[in-house]
Amino acid sequence: MKAVIITKYGPPEVLKLQEVEKPTINENQVLIKIHATSVTPMDYRMRSAKAPLWPISRIMMGFWKPKQKIPGNEFAGEIVEIGKKITKYKKGDKVFGFCLNVYAEYCIASEKSNIEFMPQTSSYNEGTSIAFGGVTALTFLKELANIQSGQKILINGASGGVGVFAVQLAKHFGAEITGVCSTKNVDLVLSLGADRVIDYTKDDFTKETEHKYDIIFDVVGKSSFSKCKKLLTEEGIYINIVPSYRLLFQNFWTSKVGKKKVITGMASVNDNLLLLKELIESKKLRVVIDRTYPLEQIVDAHAYAEKGHKVGSVVITLN
Ligand SMILES: NC(=O)c1ccc[n+]([C@@H]2O[C@H](COP(=O)([O-])OP(=O)(O)OC[C@H]3O[C@@H](n4cnc5c(N)ncnc54)[C@H](OP(=O)(O)O)[C@@H]3O)[C@@H](O)[C@H]2O)c1
Repeated sequence: MKAVIITKYGPPEVLKLQEVEKPTINENQVLIKIHATSVTPMDYRMRSAKAPLWPISRIMMGFWKPKQKIPGNEFAGEIVEIGKKITKYKKGDKVFGFCLNVYAEYCIASEKSNIEFMPQTSSYNEGTSIAFGGVTALTFLKELANIQSGQKILINGASGGVGVFAVQLAKHFGAEITGVCSTKNVDLVLSLGADRVIDYTKDDFTKETEHKYDIIFDVVGKSSFSKCKKLLTEEGIYINIVPSYRLLFQNFWTSKVGKKKVITGMASVNDNLLLLKELIESKKLRVVIDRTYPLEQIVDAHAYAEKGHKVGSVVITLN
């Protein structure tokens, strides 16, 4: 089968399209034909070895060279073979979610993997654009910050892969939303449900004095707790999803002292894929796709996404 292989860390050009052996399943696994995958920050950070929390992240990814030979982490595809002990899925089912080695024609998953039936209303390109941003936004907004109807939230990075879901989910949970993005994305962020938008090329939201927020959700990691603290309500929560040792310390410290809290860390999948599927099917959430590239242009796709200005998702298609 065709697959993208990585043998060393470096620029997008380290990604090489090659023929490799098609994987085979055991009785507890399913074989998935991948129709679409995507380029997320996790993919280009793992490729370039520029992940936060060095050296822990580097040890996990492989210190000298990547442990994962076929990159990629989110996908949409069709089940083409099932193991004898599989009960949930059958051949022909369309699934989406997270799986290892998805920059390839086929991947292997089990019933315990972070996969779910694809929303019936979604194409494969849409299906692959849900898990990374949607699960992250749900984890931090609902599970960790327990967002409530009527709360005021500011979302910094509202136009990115996580941001487009954060805005829509905050709306779904009944919050009043201020989105922060650049001029070209103002209309999009308003159309996703923001009540107000701050254009970061013109105004610095941390210098505002007339607004207070119950939650500041920085999904691009461009702000700091020290600058945002004064914008928080008395028991306000500052979330930054690009973890650093400083944020981890602030997370620990504010859990013991004071009323304002800092949240950081990693997203967890749990039942979030199922919830996202239902919200998409009931048209409470929509997918935003910036560009699509065929697998053969994976180098260009990584180079584009890595600039840090994609809008929603960058999709990779496979025939
Ligand atoms: N902790 C976790 O579990 C977790 C999970 C997922 C993602 N993450 C991290 O979250 C970050 C965001 O992920 P993503 O997929 O949303 O990234 P992304 O799609 O690459 O974000 C790009 C977006 O950020 C906007 N942006 C860039 N600079 C900005 C600024 N100074 N102020 C406001 N917006 C700005 C860009 O808009 P313009 O073009 O208008 O600048 C663009 O729309 C990544 O660093 C990723 O590693 C963490």
